[in-house]
Amino acid sequence: MNRIITALDFADVSKAQELVDRLEPSLTRLKIGNQLFTLAGPAFVERCQKAGFDVFLDLKYHDIPNTVASAVEAAASLGVWMVNVHASGGPAMLNAARDAVKQYDRDAATGGGTRIIGVTVLTSFDRDELSATGLDIEPADQVARLATLARQAALDGVVCSPHEVGLIRSIAKNNFLTITPGVRPDPASAVPLGNISSHGGRPDDQRRTLTPFDAILAGSDFLVIGRPITQAASPIDVLAALAAEVQIASAQAAG
Ligand code: C5P
Repeated sequence: MNRIITALDFADVSKAQELVDRLEPSLTRLKIGNQLFTLAGPAFVERCQKAGFDVFLDLKYHDIPNTVASAVEAAASLGVWMVNVHASGGPAMLNAARDAVKQYDRDAATGGGTRIIGVTVLTSFDRDELSATGLDIEPADQVARLATLARQAALDGVVCSPHEVGLIRSIAKNNFLTITPGVRPDPASAVPLGNISSHGGRPDDQRRTLTPFDAILAGSDFLVIGRPITQAASPIDVLAALAAEVQIASAQAAG
């Protein structure tokens, strides 16, 4: 299974296109977020899909149930592989979003269907930040609460830190995907990147990162990786090394 999702975080559409042209659908899926989608829109999504890539449309919808359901249905109509909503939108919004995806899949056969994923607590939130929004609890407790809501609404999984995968598994053991950003290759990993990576394993603005190997062993289903791939001198070589590392970890986790 192809478990790496490359985050296409670009301010320049032609740079994003250049990278897509250098990547391989057998090695990665693609994540298109607010910045690139605002600049390049559905046409860019369709170009990626025509090139054979599965697209995770990371727009983190959060609005009244009817509006979110309509947005999710619009995303599903593009045939994207995955879309996400804020789990803090509450049960009515989550149920409406899930029904919109299911309805669309039944009506229009999107080729395997669009997965719908919940965002729990943004990793940029610490206890103080949560408290400032009126939630005087530990972020991990809020993650658990929101993951439970996502599970109860029959979403397909959640986006979470690789350090939270164990917590999520204690809430939902099977058939519930964990999608984890905050992944950084270890320069001395099972498949060393050596000098093929000009990015190295630096954390950038990510905190408490895990290597691809450890994230898979922790139980993560899909790894979202941006700058270590997008800023590499040879993104395809880095991707191939990361995919090999993920394969070794997956075999170890299965055995
Ligand atoms: O470049 P890097 O590997 O840090 O990119 C990670 C990607 O995952 C970015 O697109 C970022 O917005 C996204 N993300 C994240 N942390 C979250 C949710 C999403 O880093 N909690």
